Amino acid sequence: MRAAFREKEADDQEPAEKMEFAPADYFARAKVGDIFPREGRLQVDIGCGEGGFLQAMAKLHPEDNFLGIERLLGRVRKVCRAVEQVGLTNVRLLRIETAYALRYVLPLESVAVAHVLFPDPWPKRHHQPRRLIQDGFMEALHGILASGGELRIKTDDEPYFQWMEKVLARAKGYERLDWPDDSEYPLTDFERRFLAQGLPIYRARLRKI
Ligand SMILES: C[S@@+](CC[C@H](N)C(=O)[O-])C[C@H]1O[C@@H](n2cnc3c(N)ncnc32)[C@H](O)[C@@H]1O
Repeated sequence: MRAAFREKEADDQEPAEKMEFAPADYFARAKVGDIFPREGRLQVDIGCGEGGFLQAMAKLHPEDNFLGIERLLGRVRKVCRAVEQVGLTNVRLLRIETAYALRYVLPLESVAVAHVLFPDPWPKRHHQPRRLIQDGFMEALHGILASGGELRIKTDDEPYFQWMEKVLARAKGYERLDWPDDSEYPLTDFERRFLAQGLPIYRARLRKI
């Protein structure tokens, strides 16, 4: 029983799919070339879920490289298979906890745009420490953003957005940008559901200075 359990655990550490980026060393930052052998700006979709936005962006911007970060194995597998099926060569998936990826895995000063789209709102007060947008997140993100790199956030959850506004206002080394025209920016899978329910969408865009 125990051996079978170990075997399963070992299996789960293997890269799920061809399109998955599994770092050779989880204790040293990767090089951009380890993730994508091809040239191109790096964009990351943090908590990419089922990957609708990631794929749409990769099709819209074939000159850029797109790394989806997602902690759920099933979602990572699903996106990897879809990406492989449609033949996108500028997408990779990293299955990991975001905080760890930013602090220990992703190359410093490498990311042109980080998208955080509809992160889990964790509405209960005692769960709020689990929210993605925190002071530590902003600090770690600053390290991996390239000069002039951007953070783009969307949420349907007003209380979480108010929380984010406070975190963003005190984050050092960023300036706030307008985000006036959304037409070029693909909808995410969750966003479609929220729009269908008539929910408002809150947005924030910042640039590393
Ligand atoms: C509400 S869904 C949104 C998915 C997608 N961005 C969209 O808008 O359709 C949030 C996703 O982020 C993932 N996630 C949440 N916290 C995460 C973390 N700390 N690291 C990596 N993925 C995370 C969840 O597993 C889930 O797939």
